[in-house]
Amino acid sequence: METFSERLLAWYDRSRRVFSFRGTKDPYRVWLSEIMLQQTRTVTAEGYYDRFLARFPDVRALAAAPEEEVLKLWEGLGYYSRARNLLKAAREVAEKHGGRFPADVGLLRALPGVGPYTAAAVASIAFGLPEPAIDGNLTRVLARTQGVREDASLPSVRRALEDTARRLIDRERPGDFNQAMMDLGARICVPGTPDCESCPMRELCDAYAAGDAEALPVLPVKTPPGEVRLNVLVILWGDQVYLVPRKEALLKGLYVYCLTEDAPSAALRQLRIRAEAVPAGTARHVFTHRIWQMKLYLCRTEEVPEALRPCFYTLSRMEALPIPTAMKAARALARDALSKGACR
Ligand code: ADE
Repeated sequence: METFSERLLAWYDRSRRVFSFRGTKDPYRVWLSEIMLQQTRTVTAEGYYDRFLARFPDVRALAAAPEEEVLKLWEGLGYYSRARNLLKAAREVAEKHGGRFPADVGLLRALPGVGPYTAAAVASIAFGLPEPAIDGNLTRVLARTQGVREDASLPSVRRALEDTARRLIDRERPGDFNQAMMDLGARICVPGTPDCESCPMRELCDAYAAGDAEALPVLPVKTPPGEVRLNVLVILWGDQVYLVPRKEALLKGLYVYCLTEDAPSAALRQLRIRAEAVPAGTARHVFTHRIWQMKLYLCRTEEVPEALRPCFYTLSRMEALPIPTAMKAARALARDALSKGACR
């Protein structure tokens, strides 16, 4: 009888998705793409992957890069700790492993930013090791096909899913097996309403037989992200704008305009800047665990204290800094004001 993996791989060979990051076994490329794909859609990741590779063709090139350049290339992808860890990991590979990624899940996992999923993805795709790369897609496909009806977030259930995946994984083509499961999860065995009628695994699927695929996997309800009200002050001094790198964990190292929960006047006073804060619209940005509800203000000043002057940037220097998507509206405001000319 045809096994689970035989059937899955036959479907994959007919229907696999084509991506620029596929078709390579170079561990650097596989690792880079898997880090990017962690919280990012495949189509988005592709563009970033291509630009990254053009700039950093191998791990040594990346290891030699300044952090700000890596953050700039990562701009818009979000979850910037991935970019900081990417650089740390590249430096470790260059220094500790002689520039070669180790062909070992344990050693891969020891690299910054490499968790069980990424270690298994690299091990299987680049090195052909039979390690199941269990992400959201695999969890869903496994829970449905194998009829796992307990809470899939529980450690004991996760371990059981992993054991099952180890049993099912193709020993000859583990990387293709993992990616076939991802493709099935992205195209057919999707969250909510799966397309069971088109599914190659239907006859082998426990949930299809039981008619409860839509209810699986069982996961705890997520608490919605909390809202924070923030004032964003775009402070202009002549042909320059105020920007500072974030010190907080969220968006650490990225440049933002003046962000404050205080009244704009109080924030300006604290900076010792005399300016009027003119309302300039609102913006909203949704993070995983936070929503920023922002009020934008344009503040033009004639004078800036000496100590603050290094925090002011011209338009072209602003464009070279890594600025998060949360600042998209504020950046557009700054761009507009700066390109319309000086106001000192
Ligand atoms: N998501 C994460 N890794 C992937 C891969 N290798 N192929 C398709 N989707 C993915």
